[in-house]
Amino acid sequence: MEEEKGEKGKAGKNNRPPSIKLPGKGDTHSAANTITCKAAVVYGPGQPLVIQDVLVDPPKKMEVRIRILYTSICHTDLGAWLGTNEAQRAYPRILGHEASGVVESVGEGVTELKAGDHAVPIFNGECGSCDYCKSDKTNLCEKYRVNPLKSVMVNDGKCRFRSKEGGKPIFHFLNTSTFSEYTVLDSACVVKIDPTAPLRQMALLSCCIATGVGAVCNTAKVQPGSTVAVFGLGAVGLAVVEGARSRGASKIIGVDVNPDKLTKGQTMGVTHFVNPKELEKPVHEVIREMTGGGVEYSFECAGNLDVVREAFLSTHDGWGLTVVLGVHATPAMLPLHPMELFDGRRIVGSVFGDFKGKSQLPRLAQDCMRGVARLDEFITHQLPFEKINEAFQLLVRGKSLRCLLHLSSPQLN
Ligand code: APR
Ligand code: ZN
Ligand code: ZN
Repeated sequence: MEEEKGEKGKAGKNNRPPSIKLPGKGDTHSAANTITCKAAVVYGPGQPLVIQDVLVDPPKKMEVRIRILYTSICHTDLGAWLGTNEAQRAYPRILGHEASGVVESVGEGVTELKAGDHAVPIFNGECGSCDYCKSDKTNLCEKYRVNPLKSVMVNDGKCRFRSKEGGKPIFHFLNTSTFSEYTVLDSACVVKIDPTAPLRQMALLSCCIATGVGAVCNTAKVQPGSTVAVFGLGAVGLAVVEGARSRGASKIIGVDVNPDKLTKGQTMGVTHFVNPKELEKPVHEVIREMTGGGVEYSFECAGNLDVVREAFLSTHDGWGLTVVLGVHATPAMLPLHPMELFDGRRIVGSVFGDFKGKSQLPRLAQDCMRGVARLDEFITHQLPFEKINEAFQLLVRGKSLRCLLHLSSPQLN
């Protein structure tokens, strides 16, 4: 934890967010302009990200251009950077999906957002008018749902990013591409946020907080007094812990192979910590012993198939529920025999915490402001955008929960 303090201390002194002039409420949008700005571009699996000038096209019909002020790195960015899933490889590409910023301009037909609005990008969009958006059974939108294979805009199948030298297209990522001073998104993937909410913290709403808290409150609907096991205590897992704590869970068992996660886990509300590496038997047997037959809810937040199985078997037969949040590389199949489902244990996946982003995220932001999730606890490090490769390494080495990158002022053409 020494290193964390050091990095944080440094951030406080030198890495203060830049003072910038934000577009004012009355500013007309500059939709005719192409913007030149800095972005972090990936050219191949695991290659260091290159900070370079890119051209960002104006937003087209039903699109929005946002100035990103803060962005952080999630494990899903790591997977895309490493090219873990071959089908998802597309280079050069601008990754990033956890961020906050200010609307710079809007394209034709966008009425609910305007220049100057505080905004959070969402990788799982909501158009509001398709059969899926109108249904209360799902938060997946027909056109704008999360799709890791998508690397271009829905409108015309083209990129809004180009390299400054040569004009070569640069691919998008997860509907968002936030590792850039400016990015273009479908308006279905932009949420307007209360301007009094701190943008610095709001960045976390666009993935880890919504995913973790929503899995507890919307997907599992954890009941007060119940028992919970959380596998993987990264930012997603700890957001699950925050949700379980706020719902009044009586026992929250944190499971992680990294012993450093114990202290942070306890701060966040983990009542018991289990390190599978220190056990002589499978972790599910230990959890069943600790809870008189198994927990009521388990959450898989590690993105590991063996962990999915352990999480499933850790729940009580008859009524246990496992929620899978981790992203898994292909080829991968659920490691269960169908007959195991006859023991009454259920397993479901949860995307973006089952929140309908555009309509429900503003409420989550308010809930967070009144303490449902302590957002600052998740920001263990801060660095300027230029040090994005350092920030990747902090996550790879299990040193950070979230390293918040702040972006500096670009030039307009
Ligand atoms: N058993 C228990 N914990 C594990 C195991 C394992 N076999 N393998 C990894 N972990 C722990 C890591 O030590 C780490 O603390 O899982 C945690 C994962 O945390 P992060 O890398 O910080 O990832 P995070 O951003 O929280 O995302 C978690 O959710 O959104 C998805 O793609 C994302 O699959 C990833 C997961
Ligand atoms: Zn994420
Ligand atoms: Zn829709």
